Amino acid sequence: MRREALARKIVEKATSRGYTVTKGALEILEQAEAPLEILEEAMRRLEKSGTTIIDESLLVELVGDVKVAEEPPATAEEVEMEEAEEEHEDIVIEVDERFLVEWRIQGTFEEFQRYFSSRYEKLSGLLRERLRGVISLRDAMRLRESQEANIIVMLIEKKESEKAWILRVDDPSGEHRIIAPKDGVSGDSPEQLLPDMVIGARVVKSGEALIARELILPDLAAERLEKTAHEAFICMISDIHVGSKHFREDLFENFLDWINREDDPEARNVKLLIIAGDVVDGAGVYPNQHKELEIFSVEEQFKKLAGLLSEIPERVKIIIGPGNHDPVQRALPQPPLPEKYRAILEKSGRSFIFVGNPAWIRISGRIFLIYHGQGLDDVIQQAPGFSHSSLERDLGEILKLVLRCRHLCPIYGETTPIIPTPEDMLVIDRIPHVFHTGHVHVAYAGSYRGVRIINSGTWQEQTSYQRSVGLEPTVGAMALISLGDLSIKLRKFV
Ligand SMILES: [Fe+2]
Repeated sequence: MRREALARKIVEKATSRGYTVTKGALEILEQAEAPLEILEEAMRRLEKSGTTIIDESLLVELVGDVKVAEEPPATAEEVEMEEAEEEHEDIVIEVDERFLVEWRIQGTFEEFQRYFSSRYEKLSGLLRERLRGVISLRDAMRLRESQEANIIVMLIEKKESEKAWILRVDDPSGEHRIIAPKDGVSGDSPEQLLPDMVIGARVVKSGEALIARELILPDLAAERLEKTAHEAFICMISDIHVGSKHFREDLFENFLDWINREDDPEARNVKLLIIAGDVVDGAGVYPNQHKELEIFSVEEQFKKLAGLLSEIPERVKIIIGPGNHDPVQRALPQPPLPEKYRAILEKSGRSFIFVGNPAWIRISGRIFLIYHGQGLDDVIQQAPGFSHSSLERDLGEILKLVLRCRHLCPIYGETTPIIPTPEDMLVIDRIPHVFHTGHVHVAYAGSYRGVRIINSGTWQEQTSYQRSVGLEPTVGAMALISLGDLSIKLRKFV
């Protein structure tokens, strides 16, 4: 392997596992006889230390006197191969490493307080771009009669009366109620507001009350998309559920047949496969799951998955993030799959880029936000008018609401556990080009203010739970996106 390609491979392998290679360490590895093996050993040693930096001192300690391999002059054949490799590797993938962390918390009151402060600060920062002259809730209560002001608050609770919505809200200065009359509020509808959302409000003082005149979600600014000349395609799938009795291996094989077709102009140009969680069905994920399993051991499920993914052609890189069925901590943000299961997948010789959930990934200049989608369940249950049986009709609106409130899991403390990280990692603090979700097993492709929104469906037939809530899954689905103009095609393999 030529030096540049080797350096790229080293950095990619380390980054995908959450490690950073220093410049000096990279130089040592580039000259070593078995660089990837040494890198593997370095990562193995660092695994329990909590350090993620691979530096010169570690490598010197590890390999002692590193044998320097003389780089022979490249033959014509090697030059040709290298050029071909460059062509294949023309997708540049940069993973945001802050989302590769496995968070450990004590569960103290201070941690929760800091988490909510971060949520408020990050979202109010976004709202301040649209709202001028914001004052605190305490100062708003000191306004003179009929005086108007802008405030930014977190919703604690929402109650409906005949003529108005009563919003119990707070900000760092205190807690109060806002009355939002059903016939007199402009902007975003109070009906769509969910607990723990951070919202802006133009209010007027009336007696002891604050009356809302306008409500504002953080929302997205409309963005114009710059097209590029990139001809590559990216495949997006999720919710394979290998190990489930309901996994449609036959349809997945049809997908594998397609992606291997060199005579298909789209398949031939697929350079990346993104899998947004629930790669296996897992074990003990819900009561009596064993009744719906074909493969009971999670390790065996991964071996089966490894066999399937080994059929993906070498030209296609593979990114894998976890979901709620995968053997990784349940609470968000989830770290990448544990080493034990990565090793099973990598045994076939394939390399993977393992990411957390959510994951922010820059792919040749395009920003992808990959999120399995656990928090969608709570939005579906709490937002009026949505249900699991209406997803085919409403999923686009639900995903737009998530983007508009700029939070992947807006409601805290319902069915989706969230780790109170020092910084709220679930705030959508940048605007992605592509927002890829899974989890609800219903495929969707659309766009909102320039952001491409995708749910990539599933490879699992309807389960007994889904039948009980009337959810009709889109089975055998894949979203294909062109990196050049970000046009999306949903495709079903039957
Ligand atoms: Fe799933």
